[in-house]
Amino acid sequence: MPSEKEHIPESNNDKYIDLEKMRKHSKESGGSEKIAIQHEKGKLTARERITILVDEDSFHEIGDFVTHQSTKFEMSSNRPMGDGVITGYATINERPVYVYSQDFTVFGGSLGRAQATKICKIMDLAVQTGSPIIGILDSGGARIQEGVASLAGYGDIFYRNSQASGVIPQISVILGPCAGGAVYSPALTDFILMNKKNSFMFVTGPEVVKAVTGEEVSFYDLGGSEVHTEKTGVCHLVGETEEQTLQLVKNLVSYIPSNNLDDSPISADSIKETNQLLLREILPQQSDEPYDMKDIINTIIDSNSFLELQEKWARNIVIGFSRIQGSTIGIIANQPLFLGGAIDFNAADKASRFIRFCDSFNIPLLTLVDVPGFLPGIKQEHEGLIRHGAKLLFAYSEATVPKISVIVRKAYGGAYIVMSSKHLGTDLNLAWPTAEVAVMGLDGASRILHKNRLNTENNKDEALDSFVEEYKKEFVNPYQAAELGYIDKVIFPEETRKEIISILEVLQNKREQSPRRKHGISPV
Ligand code: HXC
Repeated sequence: MPSEKEHIPESNNDKYIDLEKMRKHSKESGGSEKIAIQHEKGKLTARERITILVDEDSFHEIGDFVTHQSTKFEMSSNRPMGDGVITGYATINERPVYVYSQDFTVFGGSLGRAQATKICKIMDLAVQTGSPIIGILDSGGARIQEGVASLAGYGDIFYRNSQASGVIPQISVILGPCAGGAVYSPALTDFILMNKKNSFMFVTGPEVVKAVTGEEVSFYDLGGSEVHTEKTGVCHLVGETEEQTLQLVKNLVSYIPSNNLDDSPISADSIKETNQLLLREILPQQSDEPYDMKDIINTIIDSNSFLELQEKWARNIVIGFSRIQGSTIGIIANQPLFLGGAIDFNAADKASRFIRFCDSFNIPLLTLVDVPGFLPGIKQEHEGLIRHGAKLLFAYSEATVPKISVIVRKAYGGAYIVMSSKHLGTDLNLAWPTAEVAVMGLDGASRILHKNRLNTENNKDEALDSFVEEYKKEFVNPYQAAELGYIDKVIFPEETRKEIISILEVLQNKREQSPRRKHGISPV
């Protein structure tokens, strides 16, 4: 096949001329007027988006002549080619991907039977060939004129999303409305990206909300990027513009393998080491003072390689991909800047889903621990801290990829266990000399242990101070855990990167068999 750039001799064969016309026609989408409206809204067209997303000239469209077969509501006289979605395969950084991009200029990108069949076809191809699938969504939802056939189309996509889960990475890029049950396809995928201004996701829109509850709310306030990055955690990454959002997709893809049997790409460019001695400077003098855990992360990893996910939601835990010696690792770290790094129900959700992604796709896990415990409070208990916290235990225990943990400061109570402790099958547990591994914090533990004596002491404060000192000496260090073998090695901060590199090397052929079963039952 000649590429479009090559010179094609003029043909007098009608069949060639017809095909040429049909191709041109299919590329016209909903026509110049609708394209102009799309641009006026500050949005790109479905094709422009694909061009930005994939390697130059790598996109191969399939299904461009597909039309709907609906006859109701005068639909038979309006059969645009492609049926409101552009589907095909391409490469990103020379690695194959499958892409679909909904075309808002055709029936508002709404999904009918034909559009769904096109999407399902490339989802099937992506699974069969072991390549990521990237959906660009910009749609009014189920195509009203097609009735239940549209709902069936969504059902077919949801089924495939679920079947593909853990087999190939699935990425959803929301660049327009994504309303009604349509949100559940992205929700089933691994990563959701939004554009700051023009992306909206909600199950019931502002009009329905007003009719049912009387509440008045704008599209943006109901399901815009701010809501889903800060309040719900639905969105993993957000771009200022569509171009930037699509660049973020490319960056994300550069960290992850193409399928569950593949290795992550290695980036030789990324191997740049920061001065490791800087790690000694990060922890504050007082152990209850906050600091930014990302300073530790960014010093240990290949410089500038941290891609943080869900950055503004559940900020008390940090998750993201990064590289060590060019290889991808998944990082989970408590963040003392927010809620003192305590685990709440959202943090547990955030980390456990990420761990499960990494485990499915052979990405080693590095956990950096500084956790005072689970977050106390009525709201926490009533929102299901038990159920959500259990997810995190389950995710770590289930994961068979190489698991490394480094306790840098606090590791108290149940949160010590949950944050990738030895007891959950972690391969190598490291600790800095600044680690504090104990059942409870100093004050609380001393008060409980010495309750009776404190009641009888004349100078209660002085007595408490001395009990605290005694407790501190006994437990506020990593050495009891090291004696018992729960910590494999106590290291200086500057040895951390070197240790992780060697452990990852040793663990690269790790094989762990889980008991035979259909599947475990994660406490969802
Ligand atoms: C058919 C649709 C459509 C739909 C939009 N259009 N949504 N056609 N089915 N679901 C058409 C419009 O008729 C219009 O056609 C064109 O797309 C552009 O729509 P506008 O309304 O002019 O655009 P805009 O003002 O930008 O508003 C976009 C919108 C709005 C916010 C998406 O159209 C809207 O609210 N649509 C309905 C959203 C919705 O409630 N969907 C849920 C459906 S139920 P013309 O010919 O005039 O250009 C659902 C359930 C799925 O999705 C369940 C799965 C389990």
